[in-house]
Amino acid sequence: MEHHADIGGPPPGGPAQENVKLYGQAFGADPEAHYNYLRTFGPTAPVDIAEGVEATLVTNYQVALAILKDSATFPRDSRNWAALQEGRIPADSPALPMMGWRPNALFADGAAHARLRAAVTGSLEAIDVQLLARQTQQAAEYLISQFSSPVGHAELVQEYAGPLPLLVFGTLFGCPPELGDRIITGITGIFTGTPGADQLLGGSLLELIALKRRHPGEDVTSHLLTHQAGLTDEEAMHQLVTMLSGGTAPLAAAISTCIALMLGDDKYAMGRLSVEDAVSEVLWNYAPIANYAGHYPVMDVKVGDRVLRANDPVLISFAAANTDPNERRDFNGQAHLAFGAGPHACPAKDPAWVIAVKAVETLLNRLPDVELRCEFSALAWNQEPWTRSLVTLPVRFTKPAPLPRRADGTAGAVPAAAPAVEAAAPVPSAPSAASPSAQEAPRRRKGMFSRLVEWINGE
Ligand code: HEM
Ligand code: HEM
Repeated sequence: MEHHADIGGPPPGGPAQENVKLYGQAFGADPEAHYNYLRTFGPTAPVDIAEGVEATLVTNYQVALAILKDSATFPRDSRNWAALQEGRIPADSPALPMMGWRPNALFADGAAHARLRAAVTGSLEAIDVQLLARQTQQAAEYLISQFSSPVGHAELVQEYAGPLPLLVFGTLFGCPPELGDRIITGITGIFTGTPGADQLLGGSLLELIALKRRHPGEDVTSHLLTHQAGLTDEEAMHQLVTMLSGGTAPLAAAISTCIALMLGDDKYAMGRLSVEDAVSEVLWNYAPIANYAGHYPVMDVKVGDRVLRANDPVLISFAAANTDPNERRDFNGQAHLAFGAGPHACPAKDPAWVIAVKAVETLLNRLPDVELRCEFSALAWNQEPWTRSLVTLPVRFTKPAPLPRRADGTAGAVPAAAPAVEAAAPVPSAPSAASPSAQEAPRRRKGMFSRLVEWINGE
C-alpha cells in the first residue's frame, strides 16, 4: 500500500494513538487531508464518527467495491452493532439517527431487502424524466422568483438548493398542496431537529398513502403502493421517508457544490465544462454522501493488515474511494462510487442526475451575471461525517433574465402538465385534527409547496 506524506506533524485527529475524528471543524475544513492520512493505514482505518463512536472506514476503491457487493459477509442490519447492543453508544449520539436500524431498504438484507428494494425501484422507474426536467425547472424558476433580497443577493443553500429537491419530491409523490406543505415541514424539521417533526412527517405520509390507496395516480407514492411486493402502509411510509431523507440532503449538496465550483473555481467554469460535466466532476471529487453505508461483518475479516471485527461497523468512504490515488479513472474508465454500488446502490441515480443538472442549469441561465460574494476557498463546509456540503452559498446578481413565455402568452414558468397541478384539484385530503386543510383555513399562511402550485397556476 502506497504511503502519503502530505500531512506533516500529528494526524488531523490529534495524538497518534487516538482515532482520526471524521467530524468537527478540522474534518469539515479539509476532508481530503484526512483521507490522505487515513490511506497511510492501508485500505481501511479506524475512525470516530461522533464522540465515542468508533468505526472502520474503507478508503480504498477496490476494497470498498468488494464490501459493497458482498452482502453475505457484510450485511446492513445495524441491530447487530456490538457497541450499540452493549450500551456503549450514547442514546443521544448524533451517529444514531443515520445509523440506527429502521424498517427500510437501507438496513435490510437478502430477501427482505430485495422485496422493499423492488417496490422502491419500481416506483422510481415510473418517473418520466422529460417531465421531471420540466418540473424541476418550474420549481427552480419559482424559487428564483422568490429571492427576497432587494439588492440582488441570495443565499443559495437556504433559498435554492435546499428547498428545490423538496418541491420536486412534493410533485413526484403526487401531493395535494397542503399535504405537500406538511410533508416538507416534517422532513425539514427532522433535518433541523425540530421537536415533533417525526410525528408530523409520519402522520402526513400515512395520510398521503391513504389518499393514494383511494385515488391512485401517476406518481411515486401510487406506484410504490400498487407494486406487486404488496407493501403495507407502514412499510410504504418508511420507504418514502428514506427517499425523502436519502434524496434531499445529497441533492442539495450536489447542486450547491456544483454552482459554487462553476462560479468560483476556474477548472469548473462555464465555457470550460458543460453543466453535465461539472455535475459529474462533483460526484467524483465532492461525493455528496461522503462516508456512509454501515456494514456489520458476520465474522472477523482480515483486510490488508487489519482485522474487521464481527459486528463492528464498517463504513465506506465514497469520497475517499473516488479520489483513491491507486485508481486512475481516466485510464480504466472506473465508475465513481458517489451513488454507491452493489445491492444497495442508489435506486434514484437517473432522476437525481436530471434534478441536479436542471437545477444548476436553470440558476445559471436565469441569473447570467451571478457571482460568489466571497472566494470559493472562504466557503464553509458542514462538519458531519456523512456529507460534503456547503453551509451557505452567498451570491450576488443584478437582474434575472426574463422568464420564458408561457403557452398562454403570459410570462411565467415553462408550461408542463405537472401532476402537482392536477393534484391541486380538490382531491379530498384525509382528515387531520392537528393541521386543518388549506380549504378549511384559507387565511392560514400557506407553505412552500402550496405557493409553488399557485405560482404555476398563475394565481
Ligand atoms: C445526488 C444525489 C444522490 C446521491 C449522491 C445518492 C447516493 C446514494 C448512495 C451512495 C446510496 C447507497 C448508500 C448505501 O450503500 O448505504 C444511496 C441509496 C439510496 N438512495 Fe440515493 N442518492 C442521491 C439521490 C437520491 C434520491 C433523489 C433518492 C430518492 C428519490 C434516493 C434514494 C435512495 C434510496 C431509497 C437508497 C437506499 C437503497 C437501498 O438500500 O437499497 N437517492 N443513494
Ligand atoms: C448528504 C448526505 C446526508 C446527510 C447530510 C444526512 C443528514 C441527515 C440528518 C441531519 C438527519 C436527521 C438527524 C436527526 O434526527 O438528528 C437524517 C436522518 C435520516 N437520514 Fe440522512 N443524511 C444523508 C444521507 C442519507 C441517505 C443516503 C439515506 C438513505 C438512503 C438517509 C436516510 C436517513 C433516514 C432514514 C433518516 C431518519 C429520518 C427520520 O427521522 O424519520 N440519509 N439525515
